[in-house]
Amino acid sequence: MVARVIPVECFDLVIFGATGDLARRKILPGLYRRWKEGQIPEGAAIIGAARSDMDAERFRELARAALEEFLAPRDLEPAMVTRFLAMVDYVAIDARGDGGWQALADRVRPGMVRAFYLSVAPALFGDIAQRLHQRGIANRDSRIVVEKPFGKDLASARALNSALAEHFHEDQIYRIDHYLGKETVQNLMAVRFANILFEPLWNAQFIDHVQITVAETVGVGGRGEYYDNSGAMRDMVQNHLMQLLCLIAMEPPHHFEPDAMRDEKLKVIRALDPLAPGDLIRGQYRGRDGDDYLLESGNPDSRTESFVAMKLQISNWRWKGTPFYLRTGKRLKSRVSEIAVTFKEPPHSIFGESNQWRENVLVIRLQPDEGMDLRVMIKEPGPGGMRLKDVALDMSFAEALGNDLDIPDAYERLIMDVIRGNQTLFMRGDEVEAAWAWVDPVIAGWEARGDRPEAYDPGSTGPEGALMLMHRDGRRWREIR
Ligand code: BG6
Repeated sequence: MVARVIPVECFDLVIFGATGDLARRKILPGLYRRWKEGQIPEGAAIIGAARSDMDAERFRELARAALEEFLAPRDLEPAMVTRFLAMVDYVAIDARGDGGWQALADRVRPGMVRAFYLSVAPALFGDIAQRLHQRGIANRDSRIVVEKPFGKDLASARALNSALAEHFHEDQIYRIDHYLGKETVQNLMAVRFANILFEPLWNAQFIDHVQITVAETVGVGGRGEYYDNSGAMRDMVQNHLMQLLCLIAMEPPHHFEPDAMRDEKLKVIRALDPLAPGDLIRGQYRGRDGDDYLLESGNPDSRTESFVAMKLQISNWRWKGTPFYLRTGKRLKSRVSEIAVTFKEPPHSIFGESNQWRENVLVIRLQPDEGMDLRVMIKEPGPGGMRLKDVALDMSFAEALGNDLDIPDAYERLIMDVIRGNQTLFMRGDEVEAAWAWVDPVIAGWEARGDRPEAYDPGSTGPEGALMLMHRDGRRWREIR
């Protein structure tokens, strides 16, 4: 089943940090794939901008190498790659100086959608925004895209918001959280708001608890220095897990429209109770043969967490009393992201004591093996009387939608949304600030107490403390298989 692809308007997209990792890994390959699908018109221009002094031909070679490295061989057709690269240009630019800005001003064309993708350190957001504005390169219709980390606390996030707001209006600013671009994350909204089935049960009266797991097998690898100044709370929870939580817990917006969606998400963040110290577990992988956080981070005394598990409470009419358990970590047993919604027991069992009741659980698998399953009780076939058994109504997207299902990367969707001018899947400034406002006291609390993260084995399911966080409530984490 192939979805119809509608081309976007013709555009000039300027990628600052065009020689960097994100541009090579995600942005350029994502643009190529959308172009190959016919979504990008021939007249569009992709203009790399970076400090390195090179000509457009050299940049096209780098772009070609990036496509070859990061795309599947089946995506790469030499003739298509060459045609795609004909749209690619380059301007050497000094983000903090004068060099290159006039060349960029001469390069962008009137009458095109104009977008500036800042795939650079946040410290440069303000400088670039200012020069784009002062040189008349950006106008009232231009869009500016910024990547995480969007600050490291509330104060720095506010400073970034003000630096951008000096030159761009909120409706021009696209703050990326790439989780929102994932097909399966968008599917959360479809499951909740396109079916009558779940919504009547979607509250504290019927839901016992919710688990959100984002487990990774990779360690911090070459990103040790960045990561050690960040940790799982800032790197994953403040943005990605918080967004997942919002999509699960939000009220239905009146429309699938940017501000309606973002207003509802914001209300969830604002309704979060402060986190009690006992409801938070931090972990750090400690292993042998170099598979060790302290070695990888290059900081032998690091107290930065590579794992975090927590129990959150949302104080509103819908959710009061239903805990949300979140966990995320690196160097865990397997790579799995999923949301599990566990329903309460039926109020009365007509089948007697001998039948052990098992909870109904709705599991939404975000990655890998994208799909969902619902565990329900049925009668075990056979003559042995009314014996119950729990089974899964299991749906894999690949099976349901075709085995050759080619799920687009999150960046493909997000970049096209920038060109379309649709901010629904981007974070608004107040949302980011509200998330930091909740996270800041949690981090301040553990720093003041001088807490050290609990050690866990690489390849395990995380520290013991995380298990206890659930056990003490008489609940269990789903297995990380
Ligand atoms: C990034 C984090 O935002 O998300 C990384 O900085 C993390 O530490 C990554 O590995 C996970 O993204 P995905 O798409 O692989 O789940």
